[in-house]
Amino acid sequence: MLEVRNVSKAFGGKTILRDLSLGIGTGEIVSVLGPSGSGKTTLLNLILGLTRPDSGRILYDGEDLTDVPAERRRFNIVFQDYALFPNLDARANILYGLRNHPGASSAAEVDALVDLLGLREHLGKRIDQLSGGQRQRVALARTLVLKPRVLLLDEPLSALDGVIKESIKARIRQIAREFRLTTLIVTHDPEEALTLADRVLVLEGGGIAQYARPAELIGRPANGFVKAFILRQLEIKRENILALFQAARA
Ligand SMILES: Nc1ncnc2c1ncn2[C@@H]1O[C@H](COP(=O)(O)OP(=O)(O)O)[C@@H](O)[C@H]1O
Ligand SMILES: [Mg+2]
Repeated sequence: MLEVRNVSKAFGGKTILRDLSLGIGTGEIVSVLGPSGSGKTTLLNLILGLTRPDSGRILYDGEDLTDVPAERRRFNIVFQDYALFPNLDARANILYGLRNHPGASSAAEVDALVDLLGLREHLGKRIDQLSGGQRQRVALARTLVLKPRVLLLDEPLSALDGVIKESIKARIRQIAREFRLTTLIVTHDPEEALTLADRVLVLEGGGIAQYARPAELIGRPANGFVKAFILRQLEIKRENILALFQAARA
Protein backbone atom coordinates (compact mmCIF):
# COMPACT_ATOMS: atom_id res chain seq x y z
CA MET A 1 0.00 0.00 0.00
CA LEU A 2 1.18 3.47 -0.96
CA GLU A 3 0.50 6.14 1.61
CA VAL A 4 0.68 9.90 1.42
CA ARG A 5 0.55 11.22 4.99
CA ASN A 6 -0.18 14.83 5.81
CA VAL A 7 1.87 16.14 2.92
CA SER A 8 2.12 19.88 2.32
CA LYS A 9 3.95 21.66 -0.47
CA ALA A 10 4.31 25.34 -1.31
CA PHE A 11 6.14 27.06 -4.15
CA GLY A 12 7.29 30.64 -3.63
CA GLY A 13 5.06 31.06 -0.58
CA LYS A 14 1.97 29.76 -2.40
CA THR A 15 0.53 26.57 -0.93
CA ILE A 16 -0.17 24.01 -3.65
CA LEU A 17 -1.01 20.98 -1.50
CA ARG A 18 -2.16 21.32 2.09
CA ASP A 19 -2.00 18.49 4.63
CA LEU A 20 -2.92 15.88 2.02
CA SER A 21 -3.43 12.26 3.10
CA LEU A 22 -4.45 9.28 1.02
CA GLY A 23 -3.81 5.57 0.65
CA ILE A 24 -3.67 3.52 -2.55
CA GLY A 25 -3.96 -0.25 -2.34
CA THR A 26 -1.46 -2.53 -4.08
CA GLY A 27 -2.70 -3.13 -7.63
CA GLU A 28 -5.24 -0.36 -7.39
CA ILE A 29 -5.72 2.19 -10.20
CA VAL A 30 -6.37 5.71 -8.99
CA SER A 31 -7.11 8.64 -11.27
CA VAL A 32 -6.15 12.11 -10.11
CA LEU A 33 -8.56 14.69 -11.40
CA GLY A 34 -8.50 18.45 -11.01
CA PRO A 35 -8.31 21.71 -12.88
CA SER A 36 -5.07 22.96 -14.36
CA GLY A 37 -2.76 24.17 -11.59
CA SER A 38 -4.47 22.15 -8.85
CA GLY A 39 -1.26 20.29 -8.00
CA LYS A 40 -1.73 16.99 -9.87
CA THR A 41 1.79 16.88 -11.29
CA THR A 42 3.19 18.13 -7.99
CA LEU A 43 1.54 15.19 -6.21
CA LEU A 44 3.13 12.72 -8.66
CA ASN A 45 6.54 14.36 -8.25
CA LEU A 46 6.25 14.15 -4.46
CA ILE A 47 5.41 10.43 -4.64
CA LEU A 48 8.14 9.79 -7.19
CA GLY A 49 10.69 11.65 -5.07
CA LEU A 50 11.52 14.41 -7.57
CA THR A 51 10.06 16.96 -5.18
CA ARG A 52 10.46 17.01 -1.39
CA PRO A 53 7.42 17.72 0.74
CA ASP A 54 7.66 20.72 3.10
CA SER A 55 6.07 18.45 5.69
CA GLY A 56 4.48 15.01 5.77
CA ARG A 57 5.65 11.56 4.71
CA ILE A 58 5.46 9.16 1.76
CA LEU A 59 5.29 5.46 2.70
CA TYR A 60 5.15 2.16 0.84
CA ASP A 61 4.08 -0.97 2.70
CA GLY A 62 4.85 0.87 5.92
CA GLU A 63 8.38 1.83 4.88
CA ASP A 64 9.07 5.56 5.08
CA LEU A 65 10.44 6.65 1.68
CA THR A 66 10.41 10.39 2.29
CA ASP A 67 14.22 10.53 2.46
CA VAL A 68 14.83 7.75 -0.07
CA PRO A 69 16.02 9.15 -3.42
CA ALA A 70 13.76 8.69 -6.45
CA GLU A 71 15.95 6.09 -8.17
CA ARG A 72 15.80 3.80 -5.13
CA ARG A 73 12.01 3.86 -4.65
CA ARG A 74 11.21 1.51 -7.53
CA PHE A 75 8.52 3.92 -8.62
CA ASN A 76 8.41 5.03 -12.21
CA ILE A 77 6.66 7.62 -14.33
CA VAL A 78 5.51 7.98 -17.91
CA PHE A 79 5.45 11.65 -18.85
CA GLN A 80 2.85 13.32 -21.02
CA ASP A 81 5.33 13.84 -23.88
CA TYR A 82 6.69 10.27 -23.44
CA ALA A 83 10.33 11.57 -23.47
CA LEU A 84 11.44 8.88 -25.94
CA PHE A 85 14.64 9.03 -27.99
CA PRO A 86 13.41 10.00 -31.48
CA ASN A 87 16.39 8.66 -33.42
CA LEU A 88 16.47 5.24 -31.75
CA ASP A 89 14.13 2.45 -32.74
CA ALA A 90 11.34 1.15 -30.51
CA ARG A 91 13.41 -1.82 -29.32
CA ALA A 92 16.36 0.36 -28.26
CA ASN A 93 13.99 2.72 -26.42
CA ILE A 94 12.36 -0.15 -24.55
CA LEU A 95 15.69 -1.66 -23.54
CA TYR A 96 17.32 1.66 -22.69
CA GLY A 97 16.53 1.73 -18.98
CA LEU A 98 17.74 -1.86 -18.52
CA ARG A 99 21.29 -0.64 -19.11
CA ASN A 100 21.28 0.80 -15.60
CA HIS A 101 19.18 -2.02 -14.14
CA PRO A 102 20.48 -5.14 -15.85
CA GLY A 103 18.35 -8.17 -15.14
CA ALA A 104 15.28 -6.22 -13.99
CA SER A 105 13.42 -8.16 -16.69
CA SER A 106 14.54 -11.33 -18.46
CA ALA A 107 14.53 -11.50 -22.26
CA ALA A 108 11.40 -13.65 -22.05
CA GLU A 109 9.68 -11.07 -19.83
CA VAL A 110 10.56 -8.26 -22.26
CA ASP A 111 9.12 -10.41 -25.05
CA ALA A 112 5.89 -11.00 -23.16
CA LEU A 113 5.51 -7.28 -22.50
CA VAL A 114 6.15 -6.43 -26.15
CA ASP A 115 3.33 -8.79 -27.11
CA LEU A 116 1.01 -7.57 -24.36
CA LEU A 117 1.42 -4.03 -25.70
CA GLY A 118 1.12 -5.12 -29.33
CA LEU A 119 4.54 -3.78 -30.28
CA ARG A 120 6.19 -6.76 -31.94
CA GLU A 121 5.78 -5.52 -35.51
CA HIS A 122 7.03 -2.04 -34.56
CA LEU A 123 10.25 -2.94 -32.75
CA GLY A 124 12.53 -2.00 -35.65
CA LYS A 125 10.86 1.35 -36.38
CA ARG A 126 12.31 4.68 -35.31
CA ILE A 127 10.16 6.63 -32.86
CA ASP A 128 9.43 9.31 -35.45
CA GLN A 129 7.94 6.60 -37.69
CA LEU A 130 5.40 5.63 -35.02
CA SER A 131 1.90 6.98 -34.37
CA GLY A 132 0.98 8.66 -31.10
CA GLY A 133 -0.63 5.51 -29.74
CA GLN A 134 2.36 3.38 -30.67
CA ARG A 135 4.73 5.85 -29.00
CA GLN A 136 2.60 5.75 -25.89
CA ARG A 137 2.85 1.96 -25.79
CA VAL A 138 6.64 2.11 -26.28
CA ALA A 139 6.84 4.56 -23.37
CA LEU A 140 4.77 2.19 -21.22
CA ALA A 141 6.92 -0.80 -22.19
CA ARG A 142 10.12 1.10 -21.47
CA THR A 143 8.89 1.88 -17.97
CA LEU A 144 7.41 -1.56 -17.25
CA VAL A 145 10.55 -3.56 -18.13
CA LEU A 146 12.07 -1.90 -15.05
CA LYS A 147 9.34 -3.58 -12.93
CA PRO A 148 8.31 -0.59 -10.87
CA ARG A 149 6.05 -1.33 -7.90
CA VAL A 150 4.26 1.97 -8.44
CA LEU A 151 3.44 3.32 -11.90
CA LEU A 152 2.76 7.03 -12.26
CA LEU A 153 1.23 8.37 -15.46
CA ASP A 154 0.95 12.10 -16.12
CA GLU A 155 -1.80 12.75 -18.67
CA PRO A 156 -0.64 9.80 -20.77
CA LEU A 157 -3.71 9.76 -22.98
CA SER A 158 -4.33 13.43 -23.57
CA ALA A 159 -2.54 13.46 -26.94
CA LEU A 160 -4.48 10.46 -28.25
CA ASP A 161 -7.84 10.21 -29.91
CA GLY A 162 -10.89 8.01 -29.34
CA VAL A 163 -10.30 4.44 -30.46
CA ILE A 164 -6.58 4.43 -29.62
CA LYS A 165 -7.31 5.93 -26.22
CA GLU A 166 -9.77 3.13 -25.45
CA SER A 167 -7.31 0.43 -26.45
CA ILE A 168 -4.51 1.90 -24.34
CA LYS A 169 -6.87 2.31 -21.38
CA ALA A 170 -7.72 -1.38 -21.66
CA ARG A 171 -4.02 -2.27 -21.76
CA ILE A 172 -3.23 -0.13 -18.72
CA ARG A 173 -6.01 -1.88 -16.81
CA GLN A 174 -4.76 -5.30 -17.91
CA ILE A 175 -1.18 -4.50 -16.89
CA ALA A 176 -2.21 -3.13 -13.51
CA ARG A 177 -4.15 -6.35 -12.83
CA GLU A 178 -1.54 -8.74 -14.19
CA PHE A 179 1.44 -7.16 -12.40
CA ARG A 180 -0.50 -6.03 -9.34
CA LEU A 181 0.91 -2.65 -10.15
CA THR A 182 -0.20 0.28 -8.05
CA THR A 183 -1.10 2.90 -10.65
CA LEU A 184 -1.69 6.61 -10.29
CA ILE A 185 -2.88 8.32 -13.42
CA VAL A 186 -3.27 12.08 -13.73
CA THR A 187 -5.85 13.45 -16.08
CA HIS A 188 -7.98 16.53 -16.53
CA ASP A 189 -10.65 14.47 -18.29
CA PRO A 190 -13.38 13.15 -15.96
CA GLU A 191 -14.61 10.63 -18.50
CA GLU A 192 -11.14 9.12 -18.70
CA ALA A 193 -10.84 9.08 -14.91
CA LEU A 194 -14.26 7.57 -14.33
CA THR A 195 -13.87 4.78 -16.88
CA LEU A 196 -10.30 3.78 -16.07
CA ALA A 197 -9.89 3.93 -12.33
CA ASP A 198 -10.92 1.90 -9.30
CA ARG A 199 -11.01 5.16 -7.39
CA VAL A 200 -10.89 8.81 -8.37
CA LEU A 201 -9.14 11.54 -6.41
CA VAL A 202 -10.47 15.03 -7.04
CA LEU A 203 -8.14 17.86 -6.03
CA GLU A 204 -9.45 21.30 -5.24
CA GLY A 205 -7.76 24.28 -3.61
CA GLY A 206 -4.79 22.27 -2.31
CA GLY A 207 -6.93 19.58 -0.71
CA ILE A 208 -9.04 16.55 -1.54
CA ALA A 209 -12.54 17.42 -2.68
CA GLN A 210 -13.44 13.72 -2.93
CA TYR A 211 -11.73 10.33 -3.07
CA ALA A 212 -14.20 7.66 -4.08
CA ARG A 213 -15.23 5.00 -6.54
CA PRO A 214 -16.49 6.35 -9.90
CA ALA A 215 -20.12 5.37 -9.25
CA GLU A 216 -20.10 7.18 -5.91
CA LEU A 217 -18.51 10.26 -7.44
CA ILE A 218 -21.28 10.48 -10.01
CA GLY A 219 -24.11 9.41 -7.72
CA ARG A 220 -23.03 11.32 -4.66
CA PRO A 221 -20.60 14.14 -5.50
CA ALA A 222 -19.16 15.41 -2.23
CA ASN A 223 -19.76 19.07 -2.98
CA GLY A 224 -20.74 21.59 -5.63
CA PHE A 225 -17.21 21.77 -6.99
CA VAL A 226 -17.03 18.05 -7.78
CA LYS A 227 -20.50 18.06 -9.27
CA ALA A 228 -19.87 21.11 -11.43
CA PHE A 229 -16.42 19.97 -12.53
CA ILE A 230 -17.60 16.56 -13.66
CA LEU A 231 -20.87 17.70 -15.17
CA ARG A 232 -19.24 20.59 -17.02
CA GLN A 233 -16.69 18.29 -18.66
CA LEU A 234 -19.23 15.62 -19.56
CA GLU A 235 -21.47 18.36 -20.90
CA ILE A 236 -18.65 19.60 -23.17
CA LYS A 237 -18.28 16.06 -24.51
CA ARG A 238 -22.00 15.85 -25.19
CA GLU A 239 -21.89 19.17 -27.03
CA ASN A 240 -18.97 17.98 -29.14
CA ILE A 241 -20.80 14.81 -30.06
CA LEU A 242 -23.97 16.70 -30.93
CA ALA A 243 -21.95 19.12 -33.05
CA LEU A 244 -20.42 16.18 -34.90
CA PHE A 245 -23.85 14.74 -35.61
CA GLN A 246 -25.06 18.09 -36.87
CA ALA A 247 -21.99 18.53 -39.07
CA ALA A 248 -22.49 15.05 -40.51
CA ARG A 249 -26.11 15.80 -41.32
CA ALA A 250 -25.43 19.20 -42.92
N1 LIG B 1 8.97 23.67 -9.50
C1 LIG B 1 8.03 24.61 -9.35
N2 LIG B 1 8.37 25.88 -8.99
C2 LIG B 1 7.43 26.83 -8.81
N3 LIG B 1 6.12 26.62 -8.97
C3 LIG B 1 5.71 25.40 -9.33
C4 LIG B 1 6.64 24.32 -9.54
N4 LIG B 1 5.95 23.21 -9.87
C5 LIG B 1 4.64 23.58 -9.88
N5 LIG B 1 4.50 24.88 -9.55
C6 LIG B 1 3.21 25.60 -9.43
O1 LIG B 1 2.33 24.80 -8.67
C7 LIG B 1 1.00 24.87 -9.16
C8 LIG B 1 0.50 23.47 -9.44
O2 LIG B 1 1.22 22.94 -10.54
P1 LIG B 1 1.01 21.48 -11.08
O3 LIG B 1 1.24 20.52 -9.98
O4 LIG B 1 1.86 21.35 -12.29
O5 LIG B 1 -0.54 21.51 -11.46
P2 LIG B 1 -1.37 20.54 -12.45
O6 LIG B 1 -0.51 19.40 -12.82
O7 LIG B 1 -2.58 20.15 -11.65
O8 LIG B 1 -1.76 21.38 -13.61
C9 LIG B 1 1.05 25.76 -10.39
O9 LIG B 1 0.65 27.05 -9.99
C10 LIG B 1 2.51 25.76 -10.77
O10 LIG B 1 2.87 26.96 -11.40
MG1 LIG C 1 0.23 18.67 -14.69
